[in-house]
Amino acid sequence: MALVTPVQISTNSDRFQQLKIFDESKAGVKGLLDSGITHVPPIFLRPPEDLAVDAPLSGDTHFTVPVIELAGEHAAVVAGVRRAAETVGLFQVVNHGVAAKVVEEMVAAARGFHEAAQEVKRVYYTREKEKKVKYGSNFDLYRSKFASWRDTLFCAMAPPPLHPPDLPLLCSAQIYRDITMEYSRQVQALGSLLFALLSEALGLKSDYLESMDCAKGHSILMHYYPPCPQPHLTLGTNRHSDPGFLTILLQDHIGGLQVLYQNEWIDVPPIPGALVVNIGDMLQLLSNGQFKSVEHRVVASHKGPRVSVACFFTLDNYPSARMYGPIKELLSEDNPPVYRDTSLQDFNAHYYSKGLDGNSALKHFMLQQ
Ligand code: OGA
Ligand code: NI
Repeated sequence: MALVTPVQISTNSDRFQQLKIFDESKAGVKGLLDSGITHVPPIFLRPPEDLAVDAPLSGDTHFTVPVIELAGEHAAVVAGVRRAAETVGLFQVVNHGVAAKVVEEMVAAARGFHEAAQEVKRVYYTREKEKKVKYGSNFDLYRSKFASWRDTLFCAMAPPPLHPPDLPLLCSAQIYRDITMEYSRQVQALGSLLFALLSEALGLKSDYLESMDCAKGHSILMHYYPPCPQPHLTLGTNRHSDPGFLTILLQDHIGGLQVLYQNEWIDVPPIPGALVVNIGDMLQLLSNGQFKSVEHRVVASHKGPRVSVACFFTLDNYPSARMYGPIKELLSEDNPPVYRDTSLQDFNAHYYSKGLDGNSALKHFMLQQ
């Protein structure tokens, strides 16, 4: 032991120094790549025990992620949403009402930000929680077992409504701001529609979830995954479940998103024009476990850059005293509450106190059985 301990300490402090250098560069993974690296730096390496859990894939799951046509017959749409939310917790939607042009322009604008000059981006680089617009790499950099191959621009859109001038000033500033605001409006409308369908899928009145403020706020995260020289050694995003009520994700054509279903990582293939929807931890809690907040991740790739834009329905930066627990109408003697009540602030504080790694945050809110 005497031999092992000093080595571990020196390795850890060395890692900490490397994390700090990376953080203080304010240049993200894109900056590293632009500096000409040809190997993945140590801070991004998945530890052997993490790589090992990927190994035994049986490959016999022929499961494919459901695709739901939202303009279809109402009862069939509700049934489809219910099945998907109860089983895999993640599905794609088409004919969702978000204009194809807005989707396309949103991806281009997100890419535009990440490919802007470092001087433009570094102004927004911060780890301060309260900031509404934050650029950074790995919000959990100092807490995770390894860093992910990804940079992010985070924008808390509402409430209170974000003012367009808070968004970054790019060469095509007005266009960038207009697109982000328009995407936010359209994705908010889709969120309301999905909360109505999910309410009905739980056997509740269609305005139930919205009346609990599930659609009151959202944040938009513009992710950028630079091409990776050694993709098998790291990940684009480590396995996690999402903290909020619901996430609507727009991914470009590159691919790499995977969902954990029956212990296997299943690809979520890009479908032109489709959006990915997944249940978040808070909706699993509200539904008393009926809906699944599923683990997902993004693999790194030689291909890229990959751009995705996630919309989290939750209240970041907005104080709400409302308490959330399993919905009373769903409970019975046969279905006793599994989770205790929590405020969004307490849930988020717990979620963000740890590095991304599975879906353990919800466990903390489970009642003793
Ligand atoms: C997320 C997420 C996946 C992606 O933002 O929580 O899982 O494809 N993103 O970027
Ligand atoms: Ni996610």
